[in-house]
Amino acid sequence: MKTITIEPVTRIEGHAKITIQLNETGTVEDAQFHVTEFRGFEKFCQGRPFYEMPSLMARICGICPVSHLLASAKACDSLMSVRVPKTAENLRRILNFAQIVQSHALSFFYLSSPDLLLGMDADPTERNVIGVIKKHPEMARSGIKLRQFGQQIIEELAGKRIHPSWVVPGGVNKPISLETRNGILKRIPDALKTIHATLDWYKTTLDNYRDQIRVFANFPTLFMGLVTPDGGLEHYHGRLRVVGETGNIIEDQIDPVRYRDYIEEAVLPYSYLKAPYFKQRGYPQGIYRVGPLARLNIIDHVGTTKANEEWAEYRALRRQAILSNFHNHYARLIEILYSIERMQQLLEDDNILDTHIRSYAGSNNLEGIGVIEAPRGTLIHDYQIDENGLITAANLIVATSHNNLAMNRGVLQVAKQFIKGEHLTEGMQNRVEAVIRTFDPCLSCSTHAQGQMPLDIQLINSQGQIVDRITSN
Ligand code: MG
Ligand code: NI
Repeated sequence: MKTITIEPVTRIEGHAKITIQLNETGTVEDAQFHVTEFRGFEKFCQGRPFYEMPSLMARICGICPVSHLLASAKACDSLMSVRVPKTAENLRRILNFAQIVQSHALSFFYLSSPDLLLGMDADPTERNVIGVIKKHPEMARSGIKLRQFGQQIIEELAGKRIHPSWVVPGGVNKPISLETRNGILKRIPDALKTIHATLDWYKTTLDNYRDQIRVFANFPTLFMGLVTPDGGLEHYHGRLRVVGETGNIIEDQIDPVRYRDYIEEAVLPYSYLKAPYFKQRGYPQGIYRVGPLARLNIIDHVGTTKANEEWAEYRALRRQAILSNFHNHYARLIEILYSIERMQQLLEDDNILDTHIRSYAGSNNLEGIGVIEAPRGTLIHDYQIDENGLITAANLIVATSHNNLAMNRGVLQVAKQFIKGEHLTEGMQNRVEAVIRTFDPCLSCSTHAQGQMPLDIQLINSQGQIVDRITSN
């Protein structure tokens, strides 16, 4: 067998490698996505007092500190067995929506729009955010605006953009001021205008991406995410729903604390990233996806007016569950719209100004599980403590892990389609990386390597020799 290795994947955060194996006849036989660094946060936090966990966990990742902060605080709420005041819960929701907006904007406009606007085969020295600014300045401006919109809210609420510590076990540590609240409300109409314009444009271009839609991780899997009690879109609380490839509900309203009854984590020999699967179906048939595509597949409705209209139009793309991972791009835009609409609703309610925002307690449970929908998908923090409130065990399942099996299979599908013979071209490499980008993996969460993720792609022959190799940075 020959193997192609792509290492490191550009325009993804973290550090990783892709290997592609060829058989005797030189056609693609298998492919793997490897994560090659690991920080061991789960071990690192043992012995720490539980109440330190949110700010500690926010340091796992420079890309999604807000998501870890929230999941961790929720796990601590449950260790304390407290009821978080409603206003604090809503403030946390706003923070999560701000994170979704800025993260989806980063993924769509900065990381993926160069391919969408300039083409998969465009000159790689142009096919980047600078190229977008030159050729499509209005699109670049929209991306910058939406990213700033989210980041500014995070900064105003939580203080610092990176590693905010405003969210604490039991609530939040500072109410929102009238000034901050009015300031955000004032900026919302422009953010809404920007996302509507982007959605209108994107829908007119869908035909251009036919080739990618067809083979970018376009296969049946299960989909998982949180839903409201009546099956609506939910990012902060809610219960887990699992649907099948036809959109049929397989499990519904699962209390997230029981996630272990449904999810098992397989260890892959070639990667530090574990590969969770849906227990009932076994490994590897229990492959499932999380994230924007999954969330829009599992729900019955969206819950805000405009986003619901966009969702209905999007769902008309296919009668059953939408399978092509390429449609994550579209799903992200709808989730940006939804997030802004929901923030507006929450902020327009005067209760958001309430100053009762934190409940106090010591540890009352020896186990606490916090689950949220991060921009990239379901995020699970599961802590165990001793009688002194010190962490004895922690298990984290990040969105990128949930999607691990699907990413592998997606890489294989694209490699089979585009890689011919023993040589890699830049266009092949970009497509292999682009399918990974549709998942928007946060490798920082599993590797804690900040900044751009370099990816090594190696092509390996039937004798196990590297016959070609492209490294991007
Ligand atoms: Mg884990
Ligand atoms: Ni992350």
